[in-house]
Amino acid sequence: MVKPSMLRSLHSAATRGVSHLSRRGYASEPGPERKVAVLGAAGGIGQPLSLLMKLNPLVSSLSLYDIAGTPGVAADVSHINTRSKVVGYQGEEELGKALEGADVVIIPAGVPRKPGMTRDDLFNINAGIVKALCTAISKYCPHALVNMISNPVNSTVPIAAEVFKKAGTYDEKRLFGVTTLDVVRAKTFYAGKANVPVDGVNVPVVGGHAGITILPLFSQATPKANLDDDVIKALTKRTQDGGTEVVEAKAGKGSATLSMAYAGALFADACLKGLNGVPDVVECSFVQSTVTELPFFASKVRLGKNGVEEVLGLGPLSDFEKQGLESLKGELKSSIEKGIKFANQ
Ligand code: NAD
Ligand code: LMR
Repeated sequence: MVKPSMLRSLHSAATRGVSHLSRRGYASEPGPERKVAVLGAAGGIGQPLSLLMKLNPLVSSLSLYDIAGTPGVAADVSHINTRSKVVGYQGEEELGKALEGADVVIIPAGVPRKPGMTRDDLFNINAGIVKALCTAISKYCPHALVNMISNPVNSTVPIAAEVFKKAGTYDEKRLFGVTTLDVVRAKTFYAGKANVPVDGVNVPVVGGHAGITILPLFSQATPKANLDDDVIKALTKRTQDGGTEVVEAKAGKGSATLSMAYAGALFADACLKGLNGVPDVVECSFVQSTVTELPFFASKVRLGKNGVEEVLGLGPLSDFEKQGLESLKGELKSSIEKGIKFANQ
């Protein structure tokens, strides 16, 4: 039997949890009306992400779309006593309504990895899903900021760009590959090794979002810690293999969902803050870029009222990071080209 004292302590733990999110990133002032659409909202990421977006006071309208299962998710989430009005949309015929008027569209739709697979092995299924969803975005909410979570991100972002170009709606400032989970992991792993409180840790992660294309810049990590080269190497490898670590631990039941929902909610919150004119909102993201010779690249990005305000450079790199940068370019280039080719078939 649940005792009232247990309920009280659960309640205060939950309140601490939410206020922790507030401290970490959610603004306390509501601000203007903002519609956020989650495509793939009934999935492993979609459900907890929908919950976290319902907790965000910057959202006034939360639109939950999937091919199935959204009425239940929407009914459930809608009972939470926060600002946004929640509507569930199910099936292709409701996609237009789900997207109309959206300021931010978050896309975690598509299949996840199983052990032994690479993210690129998801291309055949997810490329088509992303293409269809982006075609609808260009029709129903061409000015929305698009947060692409579906893998392989190194290819799905170029696919989205090509779809928008064909529709005449492409604005490179409004398309983002979500790489926040790499940053979240790099911060967690670094804090553990450096033995510092994780709350104050910052680590930029650049490149792309698959294996060696994920390049954490631990030489720029703050607070500074004098970690040995072999520790930095191991931290880099663990960050690059973070997704695989979860896929293997889940043993066939999918990939990261809860940590991804957290990361996706942080990135969407940053986009909303930028739209609302909050100054100095900087996050890493995979965007159209001139930082290297590659057309898309993840680096620090300043977010503003129109999406990307400025793509920031890499800053000084260690020799190890310079090598990592050179090694990732071949794979990243071919993943980008694969996406572009698919979209233009
Ligand atoms: P999941 O299978 O649990 O959920 C996917 C959801 O997408 C399902 O509810 C499914 O019905 C829905 N869906 C399929 N086709 C759709 C369509 N045409 N329109 C709308 N919804 C559709 O998978 P998941 O664990 O939530 O992962 C989703 C994707 O996110 C995968 O591709 C995964 O690799 C990727 N992912 C990316 C990151 C990242 O860091 N960017 C992290 C984790 C997972
Ligand atoms: C992750 O980094 O967790 C995601 O890209 C999912 C995966 O397949 O690893």
